[in-house]
Amino acid sequence: MNPNRKIGDVILKAENISMSFGGVKALTNISLEVREHEVLSIIGPNGAGKSSMLNVINGVYHPQEGKVTYKGRTRDKMEPHLAAKQGIARTFQNIALFKGMSVLDNIMTGRNLKMHTNFLQQAWYWGRTQREEIKNRKVVEEIIDFLEIQHVRKTPVGRLPYGLQKRVELGRALAAEPTLLLLDEPMAGMNVEEKQDMCRFILDVNDEFGTTIVLIEHDMGVVMDISDRVVVLDYGKKIGDGIPEEVRQNPAVIAAYLGTSH
Ligand SMILES: Nc1ncnc2c1ncn2[C@@H]1O[C@H](COP(=O)(O)OP(=O)(O)OP(=O)(O)O)[C@@H](O)[C@H]1O
Ligand SMILES: [Mg+2]
Repeated sequence: MNPNRKIGDVILKAENISMSFGGVKALTNISLEVREHEVLSIIGPNGAGKSSMLNVINGVYHPQEGKVTYKGRTRDKMEPHLAAKQGIARTFQNIALFKGMSVLDNIMTGRNLKMHTNFLQQAWYWGRTQREEIKNRKVVEEIIDFLEIQHVRKTPVGRLPYGLQKRVELGRALAAEPTLLLLDEPMAGMNVEEKQDMCRFILDVNDEFGTTIVLIEHDMGVVMDISDRVVVLDYGKKIGDGIPEEVRQNPAVIAAYLGTSH
């Protein structure tokens, strides 16, 4: 077994998170833990609060109650760019790419946070900038190889089929070399073959780079297959948390989610 794959200590802990929008309670008293190197899935019906929870984890939303501890430090207030600097990357439920730009350039945007030289330094320290550029290119080319999208590296993203666009989005997130990768429905709208490919890439990322993954997914087959643990939300409340087999047999989960057609 790959040593990277060994599940480690708790890397992120959310405690008693509550969050509402006007009268809508998106999250009610949610606590969950993410362990190093695991694949954790968050499931639940539409509107259950899954995306809101990811938004809390990466600092897009600031919950009214509760706290988040990441790598042993409890956050004061988190902003998305700080989360990114600390190694948290994500993809979005709706594809968020520059459609007119090439695959290569889109993935390159994921390197922005890794660039240390600013504009003035770029003018003065040409050598350093060059070295950074070479390193960035190298990482991006490796990701392109890894995701098997060499053949479309120069193609504008808007011209690619949906499944490949989702793969490019994964590439953009990987370009930040994250410790914790948050994926919001990376397989939504895909056909069976595209889903299988995406599953393979997610597991390979987890396996080869040791990246911790939190995944929102509706396809129960996929969830049961690739998750180490599963957290179930329903109407903003947590109704299940455990290994896939436990969750599958949890009556509250069956009633709320598995029993309903989605
Ligand atoms: N920015 C926002 N402003 C107002 N309401 C919001 C906002 N974000 C989420 N909500 C509300 O919070 C609740 C949970 O939404 P969320 O998007 O987290 O659900 P979800 O589980 O991701 O659903 P889906 O499976 O449809 O993506 C919903 O009622 C939603 O309308
Ligand atoms: Mg959502």
